[in-house]
Amino acid sequence: MGKIIVAKTSEIPIGKMKKVTADGKEILVMNIEGSYYAMDDTCTHAGASLAEGKMEGSIVTCDWHGSKWDGKTGKLHAFPAKIKDLNSYKVVVESDNIFLEL
Ligand code: FES
Repeated sequence: MGKIIVAKTSEIPIGKMKKVTADGKEILVMNIEGSYYAMDDTCTHAGASLAEGKMEGSIVTCDWHGSKWDGKTGKLHAFPAKIKDLNSYKVVVESDNIFLEL
């Protein structure tokens, strides 16, 4: 387990998200109302990159078939089929650097 720098805070303003690669994983880092959160970028339905979807409040919608995810927890929020939740990751901000704890 380590702390990996993935972005500057200026790269992810409020309401935005950014796909990063850390420790071989593709991870979506989100700024939800001024706090940073992180979860897997790859949709567990059919593998879309959630970075290509949309974020409204804390909900990220997959661009391919519309699954909705809670960006704060990585849990499935809405989808007709039962699919696996995403992993979420701890985010630490120090000065203007965003780190993930993996
Ligand atoms: S790949 Fe994301 S909902 Fe189908």
